[in-house]
Amino acid sequence: MTYNNKVVWITGASSGIGEAFAKAFFNEGAKLILSSRREEELHRVMTNLSATSDNCYILPLDLSKPESLKKKSEEALSAFGRIDVLVNNGGISQRSLFAETDMETIRRLMEVNFFGSAELTREVLPSMMEQKSGHIIVTSSVAGKFGTKFRSGYAASKHALQGLFDCIRQEMYEYNIGVTIVCPGPIKTNITQNSLTADGSNFGKMGDLHKSAMDADEMVARIWKDLKKQKEEIYISSPKERLALLVKRISPKLLNIILKNSKVT
Ligand SMILES: NC(=O)c1ccc[n+]([C@@H]2O[C@H](COP(=O)([O-])OP(=O)(O)OC[C@H]3O[C@@H](n4cnc5c(N)ncnc54)[C@H](OP(=O)(O)O)[C@@H]3O)[C@@H](O)[C@H]2O)c1
Repeated sequence: MTYNNKVVWITGASSGIGEAFAKAFFNEGAKLILSSRREEELHRVMTNLSATSDNCYILPLDLSKPESLKKKSEEALSAFGRIDVLVNNGGISQRSLFAETDMETIRRLMEVNFFGSAELTREVLPSMMEQKSGHIIVTSSVAGKFGTKFRSGYAASKHALQGLFDCIRQEMYEYNIGVTIVCPGPIKTNITQNSLTADGSNFGKMGDLHKSAMDADEMVARIWKDLKKQKEEIYISSPKERLALLVKRISPKLLNIILKNSKVT
């Protein structure tokens, strides 16, 4: 697959993994629609790419505002007249124990990470079905495969994405629409700083695991070949997490024992 002249809509494009996706798609000749809440950061990304209004459209949106997303999707579809690739990447993480966490915080994690992506996908799919082509990419996480301390709402939202997009994939085979779920381990971005604590305020600092993790450009470069092949699931994590994913499949009980004795921050 070549992305030359394809229209790619990326959420969470103002930083981290979304920004790295924007660079990679743009370098292959794609036209971009960049979304997140912070419009000025989206313009920074556009400027850094030396993109113009002929090949880049800024579409600010808030994934936690479901009532606005139908209109935003219509705007995205009309920006270049079609959408070939939707990258559901925008998201927030969590650093708090479930018993101490406000339900409002759990709902916010579900709203941004799950319902927002679900809504945009539902709005975009009919046009892809008509085109009989398309690619939906979802940035999930290893937290979409197993749960740990401090990530209850986050892991729930990523498990929900996994279930939803497994079903959508089955429904879309006949329309030639691919679904790729990307499951990264820690990547050095602002994700921990922006994580929600129990009362919904930001965690505000980078976690130790993330300080030494690979950066987002390297992550995207390493998965790029598989992404272009529309591989159905892509894992990009440290050997430790890859082992945990394997143990989860073979013996969930053993993984629970290992996690119980591990330091999770
Ligand atoms: N970094 C990791 O270790 C890691 C590992 C596994 C999975 N992931 C996933 O990767 C994705 C990207 O995260 P990242 O690591 O690149 O972190 P990041 O640098 O914090 O980026 C998060 C992006 O999501 C956007 N966003 C947050 N809340 C939003 C909302 N309400 N509406 C619209 N956009 C919103 C942010 O933009 P605005 O602030 O401008 O809205 C930002 O562009 C997330 O889904 C995350 O769960 C990350």
